[in-house]
Amino acid sequence: MDIETDDSVVKSNDPINLDTDVLIIGSGAAGLRAALAASEHVEVTLITKTTLKESNSIYAQGGIAVAMNIDDTVDLHVEDTCNAGCGLCDVTAVEIMVSEGIPRVSELVDWGANFDWEGTLPRFTQEAAHSRKRIVHKGDATGRETTDVLIQKVLNNDRIRVISNTFATDFITSIENTSNSEQKVCHGVYAILNGEIRPILAKATILATGGLGKIYPCTSNPEVATGDGFAAAWRAGCNMIDMEFVQFHPTTLYLNNAPSFLISEAVRGEGGKLVNIIGEQFMDKYHEKGELAPRDVVSRAIQNEMYLTGFPCVYLDITHMTQDYIIERFPTIYETTKNYGLDISKDVIPVRPGAHFMMGGVQTNIETETNIKGLYACGEVACTGVHGANRLASNSLLECLVYGVRAGVNAAEHASSIGSSKLSELDMEHFDVTQEFSPESELDIQSVKDAMRETLWENVGIERSEEGLEVTLQDLELIGSNIKPHATKTVTPNTSYIENYETINMLATAWLITKSALIRTESRGGHYRSDYPEQNDNDWLNRVLLNKDFEPDIVCL
Ligand code: SIN
Repeated sequence: MDIETDDSVVKSNDPINLDTDVLIIGSGAAGLRAALAASEHVEVTLITKTTLKESNSIYAQGGIAVAMNIDDTVDLHVEDTCNAGCGLCDVTAVEIMVSEGIPRVSELVDWGANFDWEGTLPRFTQEAAHSRKRIVHKGDATGRETTDVLIQKVLNNDRIRVISNTFATDFITSIENTSNSEQKVCHGVYAILNGEIRPILAKATILATGGLGKIYPCTSNPEVATGDGFAAAWRAGCNMIDMEFVQFHPTTLYLNNAPSFLISEAVRGEGGKLVNIIGEQFMDKYHEKGELAPRDVVSRAIQNEMYLTGFPCVYLDITHMTQDYIIERFPTIYETTKNYGLDISKDVIPVRPGAHFMMGGVQTNIETETNIKGLYACGEVACTGVHGANRLASNSLLECLVYGVRAGVNAAEHASSIGSSKLSELDMEHFDVTQEFSPESELDIQSVKDAMRETLWENVGIERSEEGLEVTLQDLELIGSNIKPHATKTVTPNTSYIENYETINMLATAWLITKSALIRTESRGGHYRSDYPEQNDNDWLNRVLLNKDFEPDIVCL
């Protein structure tokens, strides 16, 4: 197995006992921060699908929103967050994120995060829908700076064991009977490591697997963002909430052969203008805030301009900035576009919208508890309700830090309450091995992914309608039935097994989004229905909840 000890990965063939107090799945900002918090109390194991250096968090460019500027307050940040969330935010969860975010960011600075600074304060920048300049950043590589600091602390921590290249397939659960009810309990996960499926038993488990952008053909997310955590949680019986609310970022790079790559909103925050193929600046036609209108508005405007001009992208123009300033402020964007032959101090940047962030996910309370005992969730895969129907820019790293700590502390407390001999007493035969998938599929997996992405982009993307959603739901069910899971304990997992598993996860996640989008017959935040274009507060100040064990539910706020 691969155990990460520092920058390199050390191979070990030891038949290491994998059991642990707190198991964390995922190595983005939420998982790392949870690991540090839990390790103050108990032994921690963190598993990651590839390496510590790959996660959605690492690619976060804009920054961390935090109410630390002299003209800013917690109340203003809460208000902006709730306005962006279009009436669906859980206000208590938002207040916690915003107020606890201040010490979380300060401690990052104390730990060595080298954010851009001006005098005695961070150099706060502006992003859309913020009433104040409150974005702390490190050029356009804030996610990397943040995760680098957290990774170093994790690697220096003797109580945290990191195991790389370990793919969590499904949770290990059992049913606990109490006097008048049944409670599902989580005991860890099955994971593929070193070519074997192995149980990793844990007294408490934290899901922190991040996002799902890769289910769409255009996305700002990296390859690892295949929605695995959403799918595994759904299969285990977690409550999944607000899954219709996918945020599409208006500006992802659109260049032949270029990978998924975000062009940060901060570029528009610093005066970048959007123009169509015939050179018209168009955002003022769509919204009084122009380029800094909410993301869903800008994404729909770009899509409309692409439709009107018959051209597959629009352009972002920052040629008013000097080359020196661009290199200092947006070094990653400058270098990446330069690799594709653009000098963005002279050339306009081809962009179009892409899937960026999931506002919904595994329902948790403010203590990050899910409806399964012993299973906690934090970061993008979780839904505490802090984002409502649309996330305010740069609130995601903040959420990871704040709820990562909460998950770590609560999971550690739960683990400590369980006797030390408990894990070895667990009899694997009594667990629900709910889903183990055959690695075999009649279908060509790449074609499955292409078909899924095409139908999602067409019908479950920036604009949706009943007709299109129905078509996609049927498509997904048909494709899914051809790579149906069936129990098998004798597989030898290989690379294609993992790819098949990821594909099944993507299909399940896509199905959850489509199903929820069909149920919500209105438009709100990231969810736009062309057949119900208005926000309907009379009927829809409610949330859609899916659980595999019962019919979809509409949860009143
Ligand atoms: C960006 O830099 O535009 C993304 C920031 C975010 O999604 O919060």
